[in-house]
Amino acid sequence: MPDNTQVLFKSHPQAMPIPDNFEIVHVDLPPLEEGQFLLENQYLSLDPYMRMLMGGGWTYSGPGMTPGQLMVGRVLGRVIETKNADYAIGDHVVGRLGWQSHAISDGTDLDFKVEARQDVPLSAYLGACGSTAITGWVGIKLVGKPREGETVLISAAAGSVGSAAGQIAKAMGCRAAGIAGGRDKCRLVEEVFEFDACCDYKADDLAGQIAAACPDGVDVYFDNVGGRVLDAALVNMNKYGRIPVCGVLSAYNDGGDRYGVENLHLVFDKTLNIQGFLLADHHDKWPEARAELEDMVASGAMKYRETIAQGIENAPEAFIGMLGGANVGKQLVKLV
Ligand SMILES: NC(=O)c1ccc[n+]([C@@H]2O[C@H](COP(=O)([O-])OP(=O)(O)OC[C@H]3O[C@@H](n4cnc5c(N)ncnc54)[C@H](OP(=O)(O)O)[C@@H]3O)[C@@H](O)[C@H]2O)c1
Repeated sequence: MPDNTQVLFKSHPQAMPIPDNFEIVHVDLPPLEEGQFLLENQYLSLDPYMRMLMGGGWTYSGPGMTPGQLMVGRVLGRVIETKNADYAIGDHVVGRLGWQSHAISDGTDLDFKVEARQDVPLSAYLGACGSTAITGWVGIKLVGKPREGETVLISAAAGSVGSAAGQIAKAMGCRAAGIAGGRDKCRLVEEVFEFDACCDYKADDLAGQIAAACPDGVDVYFDNVGGRVLDAALVNMNKYGRIPVCGVLSAYNDGGDRYGVENLHLVFDKTLNIQGFLLADHHDKWPEARAELEDMVASGAMKYRETIAQGIENAPEAFIGMLGGANVGKQLVKLV
């Protein structure tokens, strides 16, 4: 059996994680039992929810991690040994099997087996056809429900969920405006992901920028960040607008010094519907969403970017970078 390299959760970060919050270990793999198969993990997905799991306490993504535990994370793996007739050598699977180079599974802990297509790269099953793009699909199609011709505003628009959400809204005939950090990311959102406009939340007067980017006001605000960005979006919402709340990126590293949203009274004044949602609550829709996204990726209708770090040992650094905005699109680690 090969050597398994793992990244363990070592200690709770105070604010932004540091490399010392992680520990890299090498462990022996036990022999396979009947019904099990061995995976060589090829890509690891790095996601903001992992920062919440590092904080201890309650998180939307399950119980917080305890020191010494394998870092939680989704991987795309290839079967390299098998004692399970349903999983042949060479099959690819996606599952939340943790930050490690190898994993033993019996199939019950997986998200899905990849039905490989020539026109969809395997790494896309963790991003543009995977959980992040499906989150965008759920937030737009099932929660925000924009109608053709309406304006949809999306924060963290250069990231994995946001870039997909905007393109799904565009495919539904909506105007899509993004919010991202810095002029370069905004240019990418407009030129590569083909949003109609993008506002820079690191520049002055975000509310004014949104007003200029959304001349008819905002009907749906897909919120990935909360905080000051939500305040600026609230000012620009149209009456009866919808706000699917996908995440609160601005709070994950705040170290408990939480920003209080000032414009919540506008939820009443404008009769807004603000609704949190979880991808995990919509398991039944994943196959439909994935099939649609696969077709969009294959046809080129879904543009996507991946930021790929190399090697499991570099996962902590890549994760810290992603939380600080160093990524464009889906942050992955290539493991082989
Ligand atoms: N509801 C669910 O079930 C579910 C499922 C998956 C993901 N999510 C949520 O979806 C959101 C996006 O996740 P993702 O995987 O696509 O990550 P991502 O957007 O690809 O990467 C994180 C991005 O967050 C931005 N960011 C960091 N700090 C910020 C701050 N203080 N204010 C504004 N933006 C900040 C950075 O972009 P800039 O450079 O533009 O700042 C960074 O690139 C997260 O809130 C995540 O928790 C929710």
